[in-house]
Amino acid sequence: MKISIIGTGHVGLVTGACFAEKGHDVLCADSDAEKISRLRSGVMPFFEPGLDGIVKKHSAAGRLKFGTSVSEAVRHGQAIFISVWTPPLKTGKADLSFVENVCREIAGSLRAGERRLIVEKSTVPVNTARRVLDTLNRYASRDASFSVASNPEFLREGTAVEDTLKPDRIVFGVADAESERTLREIYSAFNAPIIVTDVASAELIKHASNSFLAMKISFINAVSLICEHSGADVTRVAEGMGMDHRIQRAFLNAGIGYGGSCFPKDVSAFIDISRELGYEFRLLEEVERINRDMRTHFFRKIERELWILKGKKIAALGLSFKPGTDDMRMAPSLTVIEELMKEGAAVSAFDPVSIPAARAAFGEKGIREGGLLSFASSAEEACAGAEAVCVFTEWPEIVQADWKTIGESVRTRIVFDGRNCLDATALRAAGWTVKGMGRPMA
Ligand code: UDX
Repeated sequence: MKISIIGTGHVGLVTGACFAEKGHDVLCADSDAEKISRLRSGVMPFFEPGLDGIVKKHSAAGRLKFGTSVSEAVRHGQAIFISVWTPPLKTGKADLSFVENVCREIAGSLRAGERRLIVEKSTVPVNTARRVLDTLNRYASRDASFSVASNPEFLREGTAVEDTLKPDRIVFGVADAESERTLREIYSAFNAPIIVTDVASAELIKHASNSFLAMKISFINAVSLICEHSGADVTRVAEGMGMDHRIQRAFLNAGIGYGGSCFPKDVSAFIDISRELGYEFRLLEEVERINRDMRTHFFRKIERELWILKGKKIAALGLSFKPGTDDMRMAPSLTVIEELMKEGAAVSAFDPVSIPAARAAFGEKGIREGGLLSFASSAEEACAGAEAVCVFTEWPEIVQADWKTIGESVRTRIVFDGRNCLDATALRAAGWTVKGMGRPMA
């Protein structure tokens, strides 16, 4: 089928490439002309394992094209997926102005006799589709023919291609049988269970799923604090809880908290839309609070152990919000490193792929390289001469670094493991003080 995708972020670009992989004829449009010209020459706008391979393969085969014009996208695609960003405003509300702009442009390009299915792919608050429909009705010509559906995306950064090609489930929120038929045809080559709902329920499935996962993380993080006070080990607690099939082990990894572009944004947008609809979602407010507090808790742990931070070199390993991505949005490392530098510590940071993105993220906060912040090209280099090592992200390059060499080059063998990813027993045997999260001796 001919499909158009508007917006080439993590969701749009991966979805477009995966639709091409399933044999569709895809046009990805984005208003950022520079990004589109780089994509045309095979340069990816972000790091995502496996993405550039399928983009290049299908671009060469002519199944995946790139453009800057919404009207061209409307002409091309029988189905048009909106996957522009919905960033959080200062109030926590999702900024839907990009969605509205695209809808207005789509409306202006719809033609009589050419039915189009407009699909919400971006994560949006419940009832956004109603607004999308109103906008299209307001700005389209009377004889335009279209429907609006919701088809939320559940991909994770770092495994986005695999998640999209082999999803746990596919959700169609539709208002009519024809929309369902079109979506079924698009997904006919995907081997995954499909749930068909009304449009509002589909929108809600996405916000509720992400908020539930964030809640699981904050729950285990709260338990990890109890573990630290009682001498229990949160990893064993999570294991024991996870063996109950009603609970499951996934997303019970205690640590320094969740970051990224989705959980923080979606939890606050869900709180906001709930309030607008008349419900104070206090449970989720607490989820956010616990998440914020984990960063402070981690920083205080460092401060308690090292006493004076001024003038001390501290190695920071793993900068992105999680492994497998160079995404620095809401990364816990940013907050803690900033706090360390405020106290006068010199931070030597390493990440296998995120150093350019980290430079930009620190730059936005007015923090430049040089002075107290430096970047190293390996974990070993970052740790040489350090008074302590902090691990923010469980990249394999960090977990499997040469900890023997690191142990010989640090000034003092103290490691703060913000993800409980290191082999604490082996490190302790080698003379390290290991401070994990919610574990004995943490
Ligand atoms: C998430 C959802 O998983 C995905 O379905 C949705 O489409 C987008 O948001 P993503 O943000 O890419 O995906 O990463 P995810 O793997 O879910 O991790 C999010 C954050 O939670 C990371 O900072 C990670 O380190 C943290 N996390 C995850 C924990 O702290 N503990 C866990 O047990 C799991």
